[in-house]
Amino acid sequence: MKMKEESKNFQTRRDFLQSAAVTGTTLILSPMISAQEESEKTPDDINIALIGAGAQGQVLLNACRNIPGIRFKAVCDIWENYNRKRTARILKAYGHNVNEYEDYKQMLAEENNLDAAIIATPDFCHAEQTIACLQAGLHVYCEKEMAKTIEEAQKMVQAARQTGKLLQIGRQRRSSPRYIHCYQKLMKEYGLFGQIKAVNGQWNRKIYDTLGWPVNAPIAQETLTKYGYNSMQQFRNWQWYKALGNGRVVDFGAHQIDIFNWFLEATPKAITANGNINYNKYGYEWYDTVLSLIEYDTPHGNVSASYQTMPYDEGYKSYEKFIGDQGTFWISEHNSRNMIYPEPTAENSKKWYQCVQDGDLIATNEIMKMLESMDPENFAHLFRAEETPPPVFGEENKSEINSAVIGKPSLHLPLTLSDKPYTQPHLENFFDTIRGKAQLNCPAELGYKTAAAVLKINEAIETGRKIEFKPDDFVV
Ligand SMILES: NC(=O)c1ccc[n+]([C@@H]2O[C@H](COP(=O)([O-])OP(=O)(O)OC[C@H]3O[C@@H](n4cnc5c(N)ncnc54)[C@H](O)[C@@H]3O)[C@@H](O)[C@H]2O)c1
Repeated sequence: MKMKEESKNFQTRRDFLQSAAVTGTTLILSPMISAQEESEKTPDDINIALIGAGAQGQVLLNACRNIPGIRFKAVCDIWENYNRKRTARILKAYGHNVNEYEDYKQMLAEENNLDAAIIATPDFCHAEQTIACLQAGLHVYCEKEMAKTIEEAQKMVQAARQTGKLLQIGRQRRSSPRYIHCYQKLMKEYGLFGQIKAVNGQWNRKIYDTLGWPVNAPIAQETLTKYGYNSMQQFRNWQWYKALGNGRVVDFGAHQIDIFNWFLEATPKAITANGNINYNKYGYEWYDTVLSLIEYDTPHGNVSASYQTMPYDEGYKSYEKFIGDQGTFWISEHNSRNMIYPEPTAENSKKWYQCVQDGDLIATNEIMKMLESMDPENFAHLFRAEETPPPVFGEENKSEINSAVIGKPSLHLPLTLSDKPYTQPHLENFFDTIRGKAQLNCPAELGYKTAAAVLKINEAIETGRKIEFKPDDFVV
């Protein structure tokens, strides 16, 4: 039955590979709707425009490939002879009859059959494009960070409210089955971690060489200037320039500080931060190294959080870690990076035992064997660091390294929670809400709460002051 439904919505993988070869693209996209279905729009079909067909635009297109009823009608991108042409070509190869545009205003004036827009342009374009799309009667999925400034983000919230159209902010962890499982099941239902006392998050990432462009495909300087870019170098590396982006702490914090807010059920009380440009190889303007302290006053008491981004450390990269009086969890968008363990002295040992028995947490075979004969009251004792044999590193121990590094055996999230491309559930939630079958997981108002905090970190660095928030700061 499942196979039947799938074959209705998709062409075969072989079809796709053949078309990809013809179009000369590496975009892994199979059709959301096939050509013969094109003319028969059903009430559940959604006509979409993609604005911004760069790296993330392609990730989003790719995630749409498994979502039925999505009909791409227009691609808008100022990079005509590269991202725009390439994306339009592959969409057409799969029967999406897309029109191409350089300017979103022209697109909105000429396309009269659109239901929604996906916006994945650089951050400084988001507010203007989102507001125009909402006012033109479209629902909008807008990438994070939702705006370049807090004032712009406020206007986006107001526009969504005034037009009555949906505005989903692209903080896709809000729809991630792994994150939802952690919050709903482990934290709320089982109450595994007790009171969260501290949080720590990071996204460290190597500074890759400056992004270039094909020699035969630059954008004319006149066009670059018209859209706010000084040069191709700035256009390609916009995240690092003050007029166009907000730097890494906002780029990454837009997701991770959002998780702090969500899981702590609060917004920050205060932020202090320190930032530096420690690897100034390319003349970038934004900090590559940021350390920030975020204070929360939550319904469950005070919580101290730290958040950092560093310019290297590809080995561990990113996670959010919540430390409670009964247990700790590290979670990340990457399936391989999650570790969960009770405090050895946890009073709720039986709950942890039950959670593993129920399959809501996965234990190693070694732990599973012990469960058969153990008293559930003693389960948490297994996680005493000193009971772990000293770590031995080597080829044969690769899979043990994560646990060995922290000196504990640990539990993990079930693998079945991450079988889709990471942005797919959030897009599905957006489309299902358009169809009246769901509610947005990150509507404008909620997206704004995080924007209002994250967009203040650079100010905290620049002024050297502690930024203190009032509850009103998070409400539009
Ligand atoms: N949710 C996530 O995990 C995630 C990950 C990466 C990026 N992003 C976000 O996605 C957005 C795009 O980032 P990216 O990495 O894809 O950047 P990118 O530079 O690769 O792509 C941007 C695209 O927008 C086009 N563009 C620029 N100005 C335009 C304009 N005025 N009108 C139409 N098109 C224009 C460019 O030609 C390019 O194709 C950013 O807001 C970024 O923060 C989100």
